[in-house]
Amino acid sequence: MFNFSIFILIILFFKNPNAITVSEKLKNVLLEGYDTSIRPVMNEKDVLTLNISMNSLTVLTLDPDQETVVFSSEFILQWQDQFLFWNMSEYNVTWIKLKADFVWTPDTVVSTSIENTPLIEASDRYINLRYDGTVRQSYYGVFTNLCDMNVDKFPYDKQNCKIAIGPWSYIIQEVQCVTGPEIGPDQNYFLGNSEWDFLRINTSIAQSFDKDVNFTYSEVHFQLHVKRRPQFYIWVLLIPTYIITVICLFGLFTPTFNQGMREERVNLGITTLLSSAVILQIVASSMPKTSELPLLGNFILAEIFVVAIGVLFSVIVLSLHHRAHTREWKPPNWILAILRFTGSRKFLTKHISRISHKTTYDRARFTGENAHLVQNLDDALTSVRDFIKEEDRDLFRELTWIKFFDRLDFLLLIIFQVGNALVTMFLVIN
Ligand SMILES: *[C@@H]1O[C@H](CO)[C@@H](O)[C@H](O)[C@H]1NC(C)=O
Ligand SMILES: *[C@@H]1O[C@H](CO)[C@@H](O)[C@H](O)[C@H]1NC(C)=O
Ligand SMILES: *[C@@H]1O[C@H](CO)[C@@H](O)[C@H](O)[C@H]1NC(C)=O
Ligand SMILES: *[C@@H]1O[C@H](CO)[C@@H](O)[C@H](O)[C@H]1NC(C)=O
Ligand SMILES: *[C@@H]1O[C@H](CO)[C@@H](O)[C@H](O)[C@H]1NC(C)=O
Repeated sequence: MFNFSIFILIILFFKNPNAITVSEKLKNVLLEGYDTSIRPVMNEKDVLTLNISMNSLTVLTLDPDQETVVFSSEFILQWQDQFLFWNMSEYNVTWIKLKADFVWTPDTVVSTSIENTPLIEASDRYINLRYDGTVRQSYYGVFTNLCDMNVDKFPYDKQNCKIAIGPWSYIIQEVQCVTGPEIGPDQNYFLGNSEWDFLRINTSIAQSFDKDVNFTYSEVHFQLHVKRRPQFYIWVLLIPTYIITVICLFGLFTPTFNQGMREERVNLGITTLLSSAVILQIVASSMPKTSELPLLGNFILAEIFVVAIGVLFSVIVLSLHHRAHTREWKPPNWILAILRFTGSRKFLTKHISRISHKTTYDRARFTGENAHLVQNLDDALTSVRDFIKEEDRDLFRELTWIKFFDRLDFLLLIIFQVGNALVTMFLVIN
């Protein structure tokens, strides 16, 4: 008798019935006999509707080389548990929190992801339960998702990645997915990163089929649309390539005074080709190895061609000039005509009159005893005069060729710079 009273006292001491909160009382009532592995429907034939919506998303990285997108996101799952409800006016609470372990939860997975780091351990997660049986679960994590990428328009590309989420083991007759409306831009919790702008997320319901057992699974597809910010690539790759090409073309086709300088130019061209190849390598390394080169790669390739053809022309001009010099080509009339029409009229008149100027003298004039001396002197003078005239002719020939090739260089310079500008314009406008 005495022992029993003490036992009661001890029980009362440790467990005061008034200290039980409403939630605790509710939890005890609700979870009595509850089986967490049974789908919470009264009738086995009932379909449980699972509403999956996306509450936030941040694009962390988008790797075109690996064709993956890493994002952090919160999904809200909502469904009706037909076993968990209470009389609102009796308990006077609308929502209670329960450990996710205590109730049935759908085994939802992001099936397009290859890696998933949840922020909260499964054992630490809670669900919210409303008096009418509505269960709300938040599913937050960092997901590495596969994403088919199309980089043809790089650096002006847009990507869209499919994020599929749904119950893993329940077929459509057991759990049917629904979702919310599509998510437009300018949403607070939907963000891109420094390289990618968030555009929108289209939502849709889809089904996947297992042929072997005729099972159909329901899932929700979120189509993530992002757009690349091209500024970085424009400043780091496009503009430097353009400037290098411009400088190289100036180097290749600047009027030069002698042969050695022309040879220097070919070296310059080769160096430029090398540096363009390095830039092309940078572009190639950050792209998936698809059959098509992206737009920026095509641009750099086009610039390489411009420089290569420039070098080729430079070499041709160099060899022609060299031949004209060593083989003492006489400038043909059409070259003289070109020069005359391009501002060298004065130069031509002066030199041509000097070359064609004929000195006539009368040998018969020399008579007397010193006649042969005078004759010798006169012969010597004549040969000196002839020599000087020959020199004049050489100088004229050389200067004419230099002037002609200068004009050719200038013409090629303009043609190539225009070509370079057009190639760049084409890319920038695209
Ligand atoms: C809910 O509780 C109130 C007060 O206890 C009671 O009057 C009412 O009948 C109950 N409603 C249901 C549906 O049980
Ligand atoms: C229900 O709760 C509200 C505040 O949560 C309180 O003001 C109200 O008096 C409560 N009603 C009953 C019947 O306990
Ligand atoms: C699913 O939940 C979202 C957010 O709570 C809501 O906007 C949407 O209307 C719900 N969808 C359905 C079909 O009930
Ligand atoms: C996404 O939604 C927008 C607006 O309704 C629509 O214009 C676009 O075609 C949709 N995209 C896809 C891939 O369904
Ligand atoms: C699946 O369905 C098809 C056509 O409805 C049927 O021919 C086939 O036997 C079914 N297979 C199984 C395993 O039930």
